[in-house]
Amino acid sequence: MTLRPIPVILDGDPGLDDAVAWWLALASPELHLLGITAVHGNVGLPLTVQNTGTVLALAGSNLPYFAGADRPLIREGLSAASVHGQTGLPAKHLPQPRQGPQQEHAVDFIVRTVRERPGEVTLIPTGPLTNLALAFRLAPDLPEKIREVVWMGGSTGHGNRTPAAEFNALADPHAARIVFESGVRLRMVGLNVTMQCIATPERIAALRELGNRTGAVSAELLTFYASVYRERYGLSGGALHDPLAVAAVIRPELLDWRNMPVDIETQEGLNFGRTVCDLYSTTRPANAKVAIGVQDADFFALLLERLGRLP
Ligand code: RIB
Ligand code: CA
Repeated sequence: MTLRPIPVILDGDPGLDDAVAWWLALASPELHLLGITAVHGNVGLPLTVQNTGTVLALAGSNLPYFAGADRPLIREGLSAASVHGQTGLPAKHLPQPRQGPQQEHAVDFIVRTVRERPGEVTLIPTGPLTNLALAFRLAPDLPEKIREVVWMGGSTGHGNRTPAAEFNALADPHAARIVFESGVRLRMVGLNVTMQCIATPERIAALRELGNRTGAVSAELLTFYASVYRERYGLSGGALHDPLAVAAVIRPELLDWRNMPVDIETQEGLNFGRTVCDLYSTTRPANAKVAIGVQDADFFALLLERLGRLP
């Protein structure tokens, strides 16, 4: 029995793993993509907007995309250009965007689209949660009208940008707190599982051997990414953070989940931006379903097969 495709809005800060995540989404018939909203994060908003157009062009897609927040709600902006390169997409010979971003602001698009489809839309943010937080402030009715939010961010354990905080959470902790306290149905795919999904040299070779442009560009991006992870973490490749969040919507059974309370530390200092996960729900009722395990090999098999379907 084929289920109806899930209406989805992708939101992120491309960023090379956002790009691979979005190609996975574009290649997956389980999802009905309604649009992509870009946000500040890995690199500045002008680049994440342009990179969104490039990602779509490479997949041969005319999906509409929208520019969102260019900075965090309160803290100063962060960058991860050291991980994703100065342009955010460290690859040569990338196509130009087929079209520019829509005139409508990303936040207005999110509010309008969710209200038009109450209870149906899944949002998959793979960057800082600024666009979503602004949408919830603009439209307090929105959280209960969203099917679910599946966010790549946070961690039940260590951070990556700091010992305590994962980049997407740290890049806008106040936005994350708004989303986590909104009552929206929320799943969190954190570093504790994404760091188990490494784009090893063998996996990069398999992507290149797909023989298509998406495989070749993904391999090129992940080769750059591997050099950063090798030097920074002593790992054989980069972690497939954002693609795992998309896979979690396509096939939730690839991960193990646990409901638990998650608080966001917004006090500056050592734990600023930490997702404080109460694994045993000792403090208060759960506000999120958190990934605590992943079938990495099956995840990569899905990713490889789907990327092979693109140009
Ligand atoms: O910490 C990993 C996350 O931060 C990923 O979404 C990556 O793209 C960066 O945004
Ligand atoms: Ca990202």
